[in-house]
Amino acid sequence: TWTPRAIAEEQIARIRERVGGERVLCAVSGGVDSTVTAVLVHRAVGAQLQCLFVDTGLLRKGEGEEVVAALRALGLPVAAVNAAEAFLEALRGVTDPEEKRVRIGHTFIAVFAEHARRLGPFRFLAQGTLYPDVIESRAPERRAAARIKTHHNVGGLPPDLSFELIEPLRYLFKDEVRALGAHLGIPEALLRRQPFPGPGLAVRCVGEVTWERLERLRAADAIVQEELARSGWAERAAQAFAVLLPVRSVGVMGDARTYEEVVVVRAVATEDFMTANWVPLPHELLDRIATRIVNEVPGVNRVLYDITNKPPATIEWE
Ligand code: XMP
Repeated sequence: TWTPRAIAEEQIARIRERVGGERVLCAVSGGVDSTVTAVLVHRAVGAQLQCLFVDTGLLRKGEGEEVVAALRALGLPVAAVNAAEAFLEALRGVTDPEEKRVRIGHTFIAVFAEHARRLGPFRFLAQGTLYPDVIESRAPERRAAARIKTHHNVGGLPPDLSFELIEPLRYLFKDEVRALGAHLGIPEALLRRQPFPGPGLAVRCVGEVTWERLERLRAADAIVQEELARSGWAERAAQAFAVLLPVRSVGVMGDARTYEEVVVVRAVATEDFMTANWVPLPHELLDRIATRIVNEVPGVNRVLYDITNKPPATIEWE
């Protein structure tokens, strides 16, 4: 039978045989798939692996540092690149959600290619492609799920940078990857991380993405994460996060009138991310989140809770 142990042993042996004495590059995000992939390759060929982590500046508060520390704690050789400026520059003036994704995708590839050249040469590229990604790339109607990988899909690399692909998770589903990860000693905290979209906070910062608005969103989102974790509700939501709207409303603070932006809190429960239900968070918890956000986050004076299911709404706002 296919136990995690058998799968791990088989994949490690295969990778070792294929790679020989060559070098392997692996883009890591801190997500389950890329982490399990990197650990398998590392077990197979050790220091011939080089991981590359790109901080897009579109991550949650503290996330870049946490991810890099967690991956290094697993013994992985990780080169971390801060490319926030390049991403912000690419996003300047852009408000259309799909245009944001396109710009982010191009920037990611440019940054990735530059650093792959600098760290290389590499014969192989390891990717955490799963079985559903393989299938969905042939089923365009399942667009929402299929586009999950677009930002890590390096099909658009410049022609002088070509790799042979190593995809050890190609025949596995997500829960099998988690079981494999647990067998490989990857901490629960990493395996249980909420899915986070490749374009990151850019698609939760509705309207133009500026550093100031990103920081506002990061601060509000950190409060949502903290309060959900503290109350135990984090486990009941597949994804929970803040969204910043480019809408201002009037408020009052002391004797002064304010005119500031709106934060939406979204928490959903779902099995497969194709449909989702909003989570009935207790009113006291919502009250604490809203009060903390308006008190602690400059530039926000109103908080809403999104009570729309998917469909017809999507999980993300963009
Ligand atoms: P929606 O918003 O379509 O999201 O209901 C379904 C799932 O996909 C994630 N998502 C993305 N992931 N790149 C990604 O890597 C994207 O462009 C993207 N858009 C949505 C979303 O977070 C949810 O888990």
